[in-house]
Amino acid sequence: MTIFEATCSAPVNIAVVKYWGKNPEKIALNLPTNSSLSVTLSQDQLHSKTTIRASADFTSDRLWLNGHEESIEKNKRLVTCLRETRALRASMEDKDAALPKISGLNIHVCSENNFPTAAGLASSASGYACLVYTLAQLFQLPLDASDLSIIARQGSGSACRSMFGGFVAWEMGSKDDGSDSKAVQIAPETHWPDLQAMICVVSDAKKGTSSTEGMQLTVKTSALLQHRIKDVVPKRMEEMIKAIQDKDFPTFADLTMKDSNQFHAVCLDTYPPIFYLNDISRAIIRIVTEYNKDGIKAAYTFDAGPNAVIYAPEKNMAEIYALLSHYFPGHQFDDSLGLLKNNAAPSALPQNFDT
Ligand code: PMV
Repeated sequence: MTIFEATCSAPVNIAVVKYWGKNPEKIALNLPTNSSLSVTLSQDQLHSKTTIRASADFTSDRLWLNGHEESIEKNKRLVTCLRETRALRASMEDKDAALPKISGLNIHVCSENNFPTAAGLASSASGYACLVYTLAQLFQLPLDASDLSIIARQGSGSACRSMFGGFVAWEMGSKDDGSDSKAVQIAPETHWPDLQAMICVVSDAKKGTSSTEGMQLTVKTSALLQHRIKDVVPKRMEEMIKAIQDKDFPTFADLTMKDSNQFHAVCLDTYPPIFYLNDISRAIIRIVTEYNKDGIKAAYTFDAGPNAVIYAPEKNMAEIYALLSHYFPGHQFDDSLGLLKNNAAPSALPQNFDT
């Protein structure tokens, strides 16, 4: 019996203008309340790897995440990505009788991350980007990265930005059907090789409040979010794009830290409040602030968890690593850097890749 198979890997991205808030009237489409912007890390750092097989022998769709089987049906977002890509394949098969009929076959999905899942290290971004990219390979869909980002967005919002390497904006869009809420590349991975990222794993525990739950609660209860959406993010997106185009690190860093601070302020303004930072996260903020006192040399940012990502020019990284290792001798800081490499976007791996 023929087995159709594809294996791909996809990188994580770390936002410098954060996405936090889902449009309450468009929950099924997963549309954001503001645009956002991120840097895609090299796949040498954090990545997801996914193999999908389709066969007439399979009696149901099945999913394994990091070696454990999970229910596909309970995972509505994954079902959506599957439904969308299958429908596109089915319409190709309708038009071209020579194409193998694989849209109706059951599939087995096997996905793993090389880093802690759901610990605020963007695992859903790389995971869903990888899922959608692998489905697109399996079904041979003639779609570009922005088109695929629209499908990945419905899996996990931030996943749409992992469809590109380099510096990527997620434009929130204005159409009711979400067809213009997509990722676009601001600059490629080769644009600013001097900019590096350090991952500081403060805790690899699973986060207490999922981003979906947290965002919905924030939209319902936070007045500060409304100020952020209307008065802060639109201008900040423009300033951030310019700072990236100009490779202006002090401005990039200033905006990155302020945006991380405001995102966590919005979490605190949510009721009941959401806490993602812990004492070590706050100590890292103080150390970086002190390190920057005579001029900005590093930028911290935190997602929905206590782990820090520090962006800095390459020449400062050894010093920052030494500083953090001095204050937190037991912690793991990934200084194997290599932020912006050519393989930063999702890529297909050889078919017989060992999973
Ligand atoms: O894509 P989600 O639903 O996991 O949300 C991600 C939210 C943040 O990581 C906190 C911010 C961002 O823009 O990535």
